[in-house]
Amino acid sequence: MKFSIRPFPYLVIDDFLSSDECEKLITEANPAIHRYRKKSSVNTNTMGGRTILPCTNDTLKDLINKSKEWKILHERLTSINMIDLLLEKVVNSPIEEDIKVWIKSKNIYIDQLPSINKFLSNKFQSKWKRSLNSSVSDMSSLGLIFTACLNMSDHIYRLVISLADHLLRRRRLSLLYDYSLSKKGYTREVHRDSDSRVIVFLLYLNSLEEDVGGKLCLYKSINEKTIYDPIPKISSVEKFEQITPSSGKLIMFLNTSNAYHAASLMTNSQTERHFIYGGFTLSSDLFSLANIRSNGSAPTAYSVYRQK
Ligand SMILES: [Fe+2]
Repeated sequence: MKFSIRPFPYLVIDDFLSSDECEKLITEANPAIHRYRKKSSVNTNTMGGRTILPCTNDTLKDLINKSKEWKILHERLTSINMIDLLLEKVVNSPIEEDIKVWIKSKNIYIDQLPSINKFLSNKFQSKWKRSLNSSVSDMSSLGLIFTACLNMSDHIYRLVISLADHLLRRRRLSLLYDYSLSKKGYTREVHRDSDSRVIVFLLYLNSLEEDVGGKLCLYKSINEKTIYDPIPKISSVEKFEQITPSSGKLIMFLNTSNAYHAASLMTNSQTERHFIYGGFTLSSDLFSLANIRSNGSAPTAYSVYRQK
């Protein structure tokens, strides 16, 4: 295991899963993700060549219910032990005082993402999900108003939960994760993750050759700064580490305002990168960790986790 506190806290565990476990997970999920990739709307094929299967999607939920390997993994990822892997190390390290206070001043707990969904009838739940999967051009004016009202109500409800938690000296984190498959063309620019993400992890399920891209690259500011852009100018940062995906490897980091990372361009048409992207996420961007010393905002796309 490698743990580093500068320029932002991150850890790398080479054998979080065994190669055998990864092989079983991919074998179980392969037909489902390829089927999903073919029928996916534009929303789920992003960043050049990445298909995202969110944990709230019925296909992945089915997999977790039916496959022993996926069920074990899901339970492991959603446990408090997962965040403790990183947080216990961070709070015992010489980090900035405001970050330490943010972590230690409230009781962190894990729960599902709050949503108004539970107050809706089955009919309205399905209607809302359907509308979130539709493109705006396919929707009627009434449908657009209906979706906008529910989205707004959901946003307000999550703000209320954040406020209530704040008053009760608690912080609610919800694990939003996806099983992703990326191929030739996939890349990510240098960025920190969105405002509501607190702890982010990448769990690789297969190994890549050195020369096919798809590496995770970590960056730091060239000059000492006191405030950071969510997406920095490339000339203002330098790469200090690059990590080649290998089966079972976990990378986890605290999403501070300078937690800059990128994915290098995948160049080989035969290569597939199977991985799990996860983020322990606040109910809203109120009291965001990433916004401490941040020069701008990067809203979290909660709607990805409301679609079927
Ligand atoms: Fe990211």
